[in-house]
Amino acid sequence: MSDDFFPVPAVWAKNALLDLEGRAADYKRSIEDGHAYWLERAKRLDWITPPTKTDESSFEEADFGVQWFADGELNVSANCIDRHLATRGDQVAILWEPDSPEEEPRRYTYRQVHEEVCRFANVLKGAGAKKGDRITVYMPMIPEAAFALLACARIGAIHSVVFGGFSPEALAGRIIDCDSNIVITADEGRRAGRKVPLKANVDAALDECTSVKQVIVVKATGGQVAMKDGRDLWLHEEAARVPADCPPERMNAEDPLFILYTSGSTGKPKGVLHTSGGYLLWAALTHELCFDYRPGDIWWCAADIGWVTGHSYIVYGPLANGATTLMYEGVPHWPTPSRIWEVVDRHQVHTIFTAPTALRALMREGDEFVTRTSRQSLRLLGTVGEPINPEAWRWYHHVVGEDRCPIIDTWWQTETGAAMIAPMPGATDLKPGSATLPLPGVVPQIVDGEGQVLHGAAEGNLVIAQSWPGQMRTVWGDHARFFQTYFTTFPGKYTTGDGARRDADGYYWITGRVDDVINVSGHRMGTAEVESALVLHESVAEAAVVGFPHDIKGQGIYAYVTLNAHDEPSEELRKALTAWVRTEIGPIATPDVIQFAPGLPKTRSGKIMRRILRKIAEGEVSPQALGDTSTLADPSVVEHLVANRAG
Ligand code: WT7
Repeated sequence: MSDDFFPVPAVWAKNALLDLEGRAADYKRSIEDGHAYWLERAKRLDWITPPTKTDESSFEEADFGVQWFADGELNVSANCIDRHLATRGDQVAILWEPDSPEEEPRRYTYRQVHEEVCRFANVLKGAGAKKGDRITVYMPMIPEAAFALLACARIGAIHSVVFGGFSPEALAGRIIDCDSNIVITADEGRRAGRKVPLKANVDAALDECTSVKQVIVVKATGGQVAMKDGRDLWLHEEAARVPADCPPERMNAEDPLFILYTSGSTGKPKGVLHTSGGYLLWAALTHELCFDYRPGDIWWCAADIGWVTGHSYIVYGPLANGATTLMYEGVPHWPTPSRIWEVVDRHQVHTIFTAPTALRALMREGDEFVTRTSRQSLRLLGTVGEPINPEAWRWYHHVVGEDRCPIIDTWWQTETGAAMIAPMPGATDLKPGSATLPLPGVVPQIVDGEGQVLHGAAEGNLVIAQSWPGQMRTVWGDHARFFQTYFTTFPGKYTTGDGARRDADGYYWITGRVDDVINVSGHRMGTAEVESALVLHESVAEAAVVGFPHDIKGQGIYAYVTLNAHDEPSEELRKALTAWVRTEIGPIATPDVIQFAPGLPKTRSGKIMRRILRKIAEGEVSPQALGDTSTLADPSVVEHLVANRAG
């Protein structure tokens, strides 16, 4: 890890929202005088009833719960749209860049977004949607995806966005888990010139779900789709029939806003639930502080709306702040590896927020694809999703930002709602590879395996000692699992699942997951999920999946597969299993390596020794690296695995 140091550039220090001392003082107040601090911070939102309460959370089993601003009332969509109409109704709110650079961008002012969202909300009402209903959104990266979220928020329905790259199987599982009655989708999506059959995937998923009564379909590509009578409705036809205004529903701060499924170390993906007041405040505040957002800035978060980054930093945070938010339909490297920077130039983007995996892939293509573009509009460069290696950090800083733009490396999780540990450009000296310091109200601690709090420079498990406004409130339908997953490993604290080091300056360096979650191209994947998919295949008796270091993706997926007695390993079967996982979960779960293994290393009690499997996948096969194998039921399986290492 690098100990290089990049002090706050003079131009930033001069105009900062907070400077070095300001950040420290603000942080101190947020901890020492939290109640007053958060009442004041909450004023950045428009409340129907302003809250008098702030944090009433407890991480202890006896009175466990997470609750903020509980007597406040507001509507999230009114905060993202209506309150801007008087001051910036004609400013572009959503700027859409299509998949193909040959096509024209689309622009929606706040006034136009208001009408689109109101009509959409009225269509949802017409389809029977009521406050508290769960509406599944399975959409490409088109403006209607943002309208769908805001329309749900307007009527108090809870949206559950499922990433458009997930398979019908995965979609069905998520629809069933939260018992959705409505699905919003499009005829097709587009990525890098290819079509994604979203509506057909919904049709396949709905063969397995009985709860869904209506499907609202956006005409995006005009591709042929089957419309089921009485169930499927075209958005544009319905929207033309309903009023252009829809009063926002009065919501309690703790009323649910959305569910977002994410992978854990065990079991099925969990429905992470976020509520209205605390989440919106957290998304908006962090968007302003970390990215020094100023009116007029063109903001681009290059994530997909199917992930929390898209929720918080394409839609809710920027729109609550009255920003112009750019939404990009395509992928970073298409049609050429210059595309991102061409989009920056085309729209004069001030801040871009992307993932290390994209940067590593672009870096490999050579600097020329970057340097042939101007990028003079850029002021800030953000990164999120996985640890950024110092080499990629320096490339981003030097080649992309021409040493002028601070790098904002934000550490957070689906569960945390928005950024938790991150720099502020005018207030934080940077070190490549470190997410730097905690944001207001965030109390990170490093604890050892026994839960002892380590002080000063230390390395261990990253936990958060007290609640913050954007914290998830529960696992949908399973409050006990929420407590069990996050608050029992180190009682009284929120367990992040990440390891971290804190250096002598108090800077945090995230070292990666310490549980059975892997991070593939910034996408979070439970090894258990991939294993469950593999064992569903008729030839597979047993499977164990681990991550291994991958130059571009950060981590790759390495699967050890034991076949049934009558099946023989073959290239064909390897291909079939790869395709199988793609259909069961989606392309993001595609195993990079499948190694056929006659047996897996297990303890005498039958527990798979993942530590050993990880070492072999990493290519660490010396007896010292593999450590003690004497406790294994059959130590010879390790020799076989080493001798037949794949990949
Ligand atoms: C996991 C959360 C954060 C929104 C997108 C991913 C890893 C995330 C960083 C970072 C090092 C990071 C962690 C975390 N992670 N950002 N800046 N540096 N690691 O959300 O899918 O819930 O994944 O992503 O391991 O636990 P997610």
